[in-house]
Amino acid sequence: MVYTADNAIADFEEHLHDWPPPVGRVEALELRKHYGGTTALDGVSLTFRGGELCALIGSNGAGKSTFVDALFATARADGGSVGVDGLDITRWSSARRACRGLVRSFQRVRLAGQLTVWENVALGLLAGDAALPGWGGPLAQVKGLHEPAVRALAWVGVAELADARVAELSFGQRKRVSLAQCLAARPRFLALDEPVADLDPGATRVVAKLLAALAAKGIGVLIVEHNLSFAFDTCDRVVVMVSGQITLDGPAAEVRADPRAVEAQLR
Ligand SMILES: Nc1ncnc2c1ncn2[C@@H]1O[C@H](COP(=O)(O)OP(=O)(O)OP(=O)(O)O)[C@@H](O)[C@H]1O
Ligand SMILES: [Mg+2]
Repeated sequence: MVYTADNAIADFEEHLHDWPPPVGRVEALELRKHYGGTTALDGVSLTFRGGELCALIGSNGAGKSTFVDALFATARADGGSVGVDGLDITRWSSARRACRGLVRSFQRVRLAGQLTVWENVALGLLAGDAALPGWGGPLAQVKGLHEPAVRALAWVGVAELADARVAELSFGQRKRVSLAQCLAARPRFLALDEPVADLDPGATRVVAKLLAALAAKGIGVLIVEHNLSFAFDTCDRVVVMVSGQITLDGPAAEVRADPRAVEAQLR
């Protein structure tokens, strides 16, 4: 199949029909994290619902990435709890959370430099689908991975990069590949740390469409963003973080109109 921008989104929407059921509710309660003398999270409580597109904004160092780390156990919180559909997962490892369908991307993209682009996306497939065979050798020899990996790359508009090496990619291309990797894992809840940083306006619009399709299917998405127009235009809800605390949380239109939101971004 030759993918174009339009049929790639249509293909994604069709693919969504076969996904596992979305998480209904992700609940962070009083999350705390200290780095030496720095309080990165000062008791953050937030609940995310299935089908909600939520943006977390705030100045550099506000604690946004640390919050995502604590939610996904990429870095252990010092206190507080995390629940999924009423189940306490605070002690679960990040891998176990991923098996439950909690998928995240990183602000500084983490791709395996020794693998090709499609092989990196195949890692997402393996993470998200227990039905696929376990792998103990080169990914290229595992049947059934190449086609769906290229398909996930097409959703984000970079199918032509499938055989490239990570080192050959621009920062924007890496961001898009990391999103394809997340989507290949068929998330039931998704958090993206600065998904449109380094993306051109066309690619940014594609990401907005993919997020809207996820939300329409009931999947909750949390994005951390400095691109405020993207955050406010794409999301239903915007949360503002200042110095490890939530200072504003509400419908995007209300938060956009609140001078404290802009002020928080400039601090
Ligand atoms: N691994 C770490 N070791 C030490 N300090 C850290 C670490 N990670 C984060 N911090 C500190 O915690 C605070 C919050 O950082 P965090 O990266 O969560 O902010 P952020 O809101 O994501 O910022 P940015 O918008 O720049 O990505 C900052 O003071 C940062 O220096
Ligand atoms: Mg960050």
